[in-house]
Amino acid sequence: MIIAIDGPAASGKGTLARRLADVLNLRHMDTGALYRGCAFEVLQAKGDPSNEQDALKGCKKLKEKIQSTPDLNIILGNPELRNDKVGNAASKLASISSVRETLKSIQIDFSCQEKKGFNGVILDGRDIGTVICPNAHIKFYVEADLETRAKRRLKELQSRGLDVTYNAVFAQMRERDDRDTQRDTAPLRAAEDAIVINTSDFTEDEVLEKALAYAKKVRGL
Ligand code: CDP
Repeated sequence: MIIAIDGPAASGKGTLARRLADVLNLRHMDTGALYRGCAFEVLQAKGDPSNEQDALKGCKKLKEKIQSTPDLNIILGNPELRNDKVGNAASKLASISSVRETLKSIQIDFSCQEKKGFNGVILDGRDIGTVICPNAHIKFYVEADLETRAKRRLKELQSRGLDVTYNAVFAQMRERDDRDTQRDTAPLRAAEDAIVINTSDFTEDEVLEKALAYAKKVRGL
């Protein structure tokens, strides 16, 4: 079984994906971490994330690391990937189609591999239901209003001891939303057959409940 979750930054898609993975016993891939991993390599090499050659070098480095590590989550779970500088750089290189093509194969490989002991996979990102897994059995599009998302991200960054302001987080998030929704290649949008969940006024538990109720209805899970 494949579940696809898409949505903008801090919409709650990552939380929902992790919780569904737990409850339904699925392997989970946070595909944003791939773009962040690539951006991290570019920044480490003092490159420009908007430059195709620099971005592709970052992808190559990331792929080499992935191939030489047995557990993908060790690389994608690096806490250094979570800061907003890396997130912003990720959204810049994410609009380069050759970069998307390079990272696509990692995501497709993950979604196709069957692993003993699991019931399937869940991937979250921006183009999972539309490009990476158009045949996913269940698709969710998770959204929330910009103010709510900026507040959530501010809290998250402050809890990690980072010195940030609401206005700066809000502005960066709006810039990133614009870039993600307006790019030519695989822009962020809900797949036609996705169920849309707006998380602005719901707790994490309520969002999980809604998603599980839908999964039960369409797949009998
Ligand atoms: O956690 P947050 O939602 O802030 O971002 P993320 O999911 O870690 O993704 C970082 C950036 O990578 C996004 O702003 C997108 O531009 C890009 N991305 C993408 O283009 N396609 C994906 N499947 C996942 C992320």
